[in-house]
Amino acid sequence: MPDAQTVLSVKHWTDRLFSFRVTRPASLRFRSGEFVMIGLMGDNGKPLLRAYSIASPSWDEELEFYSIKVQDGPLTSKLQHIQPGDEVILRPKPVGTLVHDALLPGKRIWFFATGTGIAPFASLLRDPQTYEDYDEVIITHTCREVGELQYGKELIDQIRSDEMLAEFLGEENLKKLKYYPTTTREESPKMGRITDLLRSGEAYKDLGVEPICPENDRAMICGNLAFNLELKEMLEEMGLEEGANSDPKQYVVEKAFLD
Ligand SMILES: Cc1cc2nc3c(=O)[nH]c(=O)nc-3n(C[C@H](O)[C@H](O)[C@H](O)COP(=O)(O)OP(=O)(O)OC[C@H]3O[C@@H](n4cnc5c(N)ncnc54)[C@H](O)[C@@H]3O)c2cc1C
Ligand SMILES: NC(=O)c1ccc[n+]([C@@H]2O[C@H](COP(=O)([O-])OP(=O)(O)OC[C@H]3O[C@@H](n4cnc5c(N)ncnc54)[C@H](OP(=O)(O)O)[C@@H]3O)[C@@H](O)[C@H]2O)c1
Repeated sequence: MPDAQTVLSVKHWTDRLFSFRVTRPASLRFRSGEFVMIGLMGDNGKPLLRAYSIASPSWDEELEFYSIKVQDGPLTSKLQHIQPGDEVILRPKPVGTLVHDALLPGKRIWFFATGTGIAPFASLLRDPQTYEDYDEVIITHTCREVGELQYGKELIDQIRSDEMLAEFLGEENLKKLKYYPTTTREESPKMGRITDLLRSGEAYKDLGVEPICPENDRAMICGNLAFNLELKEMLEEMGLEEGANSDPKQYVVEKAFLD
């Protein structure tokens, strides 16, 4: 099979979410935050591929992905059953807008995610450049249910407590990291959509930070379409402008899935 990589491990988080690690092609270079096309061979003998954010950082020897399980989804109805030793197809052509190069220098960076939209930030949060470039790093994650936050919680725990990772990222640097998980449908310590919590000022108060301004703040957004659009509009109203690889500005946005 062309572009085949071997599955190394699989972890199921809920009945709708799982993550897995695969071998990394020796030739694959990518920037933390980018996505690639991955998939399986279809019944018709043709590859069935979908866009997936690489959740591991660019320095990692393996590649990690964080995935939805759509029960009637052409790819994930099958992908959810992969086991260590199985092969997946991975086209080694990384692309995407959620990269440091698409932002102008700033003091504070916000990573705003819903659902599997946390995947590109799982990469960026394990990249030393994130902490070198900013004085403060804030990750917000909004999901419907508590169980859907678990991947992100363990990621933050790993960053804070894994000795090698903490040393690599810099113990002092990790004090810059603030994590703000919220749920919208199941009871949890912090309920509500991040958009509403920013609008009301509650998120700033909880985090103990100043409101977003174009001089200091940079942001990356990755979630469902309605979330992306709403937050984009809010940031524009605050005076931030959308950047691109070729034209870095104050914020960037990418869909976590197509609709
Ligand atoms: C730039 C980009 C990056 C992506 N990165 C990831 C990623 O890192 N992890 C991931 O799981 N998916 C990601 N996706 C979505 C992914 O490409 C597929 O849509 C997903 O794997 C489902 O594939 P499928 O063939 O089973 O179903 P599809 O036919 O692709 O989707 C069926 C329906 O399921 C819903 N859906 C699809 N993906 C999601 C999702 N992630 N969360 C909630 N609902 C969804 C949508 O309503 C969609 O119409 C990304 C999409 C884009 C455009
Ligand atoms: N999560 C589940 O348990 C579940 C189960 C079965 C099927 N599905 C289906 O799977 C698809 C994806 O579900 P998902 O839960 O992964 O993702 P989602 O519907 O995109 O929701 C993820 C989070 O984003 C929030 N959100 C939605 N629009 C927003 C906006 N404009 N601003 C701020 N926050 C916003 C949601 O809050 P709200 O809750 O307030 O919308 C939720 O907390 C949906 O079509 C859904 O019907 C989901």
